[in-house]
This record gives sequence, structure tokens and C-alpha cells, in this order.
Amino acid sequence: MADPHPKTLKDKIRQLISDTGPLGIDAYMELCLTDPDFGYYVTRDPLGKPGDFITAPEISQMFGEVIGAWCAHMWVELGQPSEFALVEPGPGRGTLMHDILRTANLLPGFQEAARIILIEASPVLQAQQKSRLEAFADKIEWQDEFSALPDMPMILVANEFIDALPIRQLQRSPAGWSERGVSIDDDDNLAWIILDGPDLEPLVSPSLRQLDEDTIIEIAPQRNGIAAMIGHHLGQHAGVALIIDYGYDNVMPGDSFQAVKSHEFANPLEDPGNADLTAHVDFSSLAKAASAAGGKVWGPLPQGTFLEQLGIVPRAEQIMAANPDRKERITRDLARLTASDQMGMLFKAMVIASPNLSAPAPFPPAPPAPLAENRDSE
Ligand SMILES: C[S@@+](CC[C@H](N)C(=O)[O-])C[C@H]1O[C@@H](n2cnc3c(N)ncnc32)[C@H](O)[C@@H]1O
Repeated sequence: MADPHPKTLKDKIRQLISDTGPLGIDAYMELCLTDPDFGYYVTRDPLGKPGDFITAPEISQMFGEVIGAWCAHMWVELGQPSEFALVEPGPGRGTLMHDILRTANLLPGFQEAARIILIEASPVLQAQQKSRLEAFADKIEWQDEFSALPDMPMILVANEFIDALPIRQLQRSPAGWSERGVSIDDDDNLAWIILDGPDLEPLVSPSLRQLDEDTIIEIAPQRNGIAAMIGHHLGQHAGVALIIDYGYDNVMPGDSFQAVKSHEFANPLEDPGNADLTAHVDFSSLAKAASAAGGKVWGPLPQGTFLEQLGIVPRAEQIMAANPDRKERITRDLARLTASDQMGMLFKAMVIASPNLSAPAPFPPAPPAPLAENRDSE
């Protein structure tokens, strides 16, 4: 007899599977992260030392300051529009937006022009953002999900937002490509299965179709849909979107779906709703979706290169000079954000821009188109 009030997300998922059949990984991930009763993000603030993981803006103010200076620079490049949307999907505790505003506000007119839009699924984190950004309350509106963007110029910044959006996994078998999913085993535990269904080879990138049996690949229609919305917006309105996340700059085979709990890796099926679930971001697919929809893509660059080229080292030196007692800590934080064996290489920064904008810093201008052949020399 089905329980109308399951007490845990595991119970709710078990019931759903016995009522309607196994779940795709995308449906499982969505339930685990944003189920309205038990979702991981809906029920807690997972960030920081006592939480499950830490993000770049929580490591050091330098991260948000560099990005704030970048936003100010981009506003000037956009011609200082008198009204523009400053959008942040997945703003966490509001720390990054706070550091952006604190820094960009050094440029007269920026704050007055900014209409701030925070896209946040978690009521707990929305409350934190409200308190952190209290001074800017009259300029901020919240949206629960990524939907329409306002018809005006835009600067969008997303740090570790895309990796929280669902993925699907496909696995190669002798019969073709099938979808991986989640079901219940004989002991009533959640277990991986291969879902019944047609051969999904058309969803697999042609370069990966001939891989060995049992190879897993990941696709992410929801993530690409958001990249396409951003690209479409930037094809219609002037602006830029900075996407920072961890992942590959080229499509790669492999299972990157992972759970993290108390700063340690965990089994993604063990305790649904109580561990963070993410998967690597495939920047090449995001870039393809954004360009096809009308945006121009720059990068990605490794996060370390991106931050260094935008001046994070002189900023660190400045803070150290003013706070000599914090030198060790600042040096450690700088390395954490930029060193290639820490976040500097695995994390990447990609910009989607309006196609008529010149190269956004720190990307070098595109090389000039080759000159047309001189007919006289034929
Ligand atoms: C990994 S945290 C990153 C937080 C912040 N950007 C930072 O760097 O500290 C992911 C953020 O995205 C939000 N989020 C996750 N899934 C979401 C969704 N489907 N729609 C809107 N927000 C979402 C979470 O609540 C959280 O604020």
C-alpha cells in the first residue's frame, strides 16, 4: 500500500519507481536536487566548511572582485546602457553578487543602471541572498527557475550553476546505445539499470559512436537549452554571459556523475536528497547550442588563466600589503583558485557574447579573416 506521505526522498523515489517504472538519471538528479519537499538545495545551505562543498566566491573575495571589475569593464564596452539586466543564476549565498556589486560600484552609474535578477531554486538560499544583499533589496528580483530574460542589454554571471543541472547517461551495448537509469533491486535498494527503449545512437556525437562496448557518455539537453536561451538573448540584445564551471572543453566519454557529502565523494544512490549531485560540464556542447541560437562564444579558458589575465595576482598583492597578517591565507586562497593542480585547470571560463561585440577581455581578438586572393597575381 503506497504511503501518501513518504518520510524520506528515498521512500518517495522507491514509490515513484514502483508506480511508474525506473527513472532516467536526469529525473533522478532533478528529484534529488530540487524536489519541493526533500530536494538537497531546497532543504539546506550546503556551502562552506560545515556543509558539503566550497565554491570559488566562498574561498576568497578576490574571485568576485575580479569578476566585478570584468562586469564593470563589459558595461563600458556595451556603451554604458542606462538600464541593463545583471543576471546571476544559482547565486548560492549571494557572496559573488555582493563582491561584484561592491567592486563594480566603483564605476559611477553602474549600480543605478543595473536591474539585478537572481535565479534561485532554493528558498533557503534565497533567504540568505536577501540578507546578504539587503543594501540592494530595491534593485533585485528573484526567479525560481531559468525562464524568460528581460528585453534589454544583459551581463550574466553563472558560477557552478550549470553542473547542478541534470544530465542523461547513454551506454553502448551490442544492440546499440541505451539509457542508464535508476531502479530498485531485490533488497529494495536503489540500483543502476539500463532502461528499455529504442537505440539512442542519434543522440551520440558522431565522434563517439564507435567506442567500446559498455562505454558511457553523457548528454545534457537541459544545460544546452539554457545555453541556447542565453545565446538567443544575446543575438537579440547587446550583452555578455560568463559561465564558470568544472568540466571539459571537448566532448569526452566517461561517467562523471558524482555525489559529494561532507567534502567527500559518496555513492550517488546511497542517500538521495542528502548529498550534492553534479556532473562535468561539456563546454563544447554549451558552445554549440549558444552559437546555433545566435550568440558568439569565446573560450573556454582555464579558470587560472582567466583570473590571472584579469589581474587576480596584483589584487592579491594589494590585499596582502594592507593585511600582512593574512599573507599566508591569501597566498593559499590564490593558489586554490588558480593553480593547475587545484581549481585552475579543471574549472573553465567561457563567455557567450553578442556577435557584434569585439573580443571580451581577456580573450584575444579573433585573427583577421584571410585576405581574398589577389586576382592580378593569378
Ligand atoms: C553549487 S551552488 C553554486 C552557488 C554559487 N554560484 C557559488 O559559486 O557559490 C548551485 C546554485 O544553483 C542553485 N540551483 C541548483 N539548481 C537550480 C535550478 N534548477 N534552478 C535555479 N537554481 C538552481 C542552487 O540552489 C545554488 O544556489
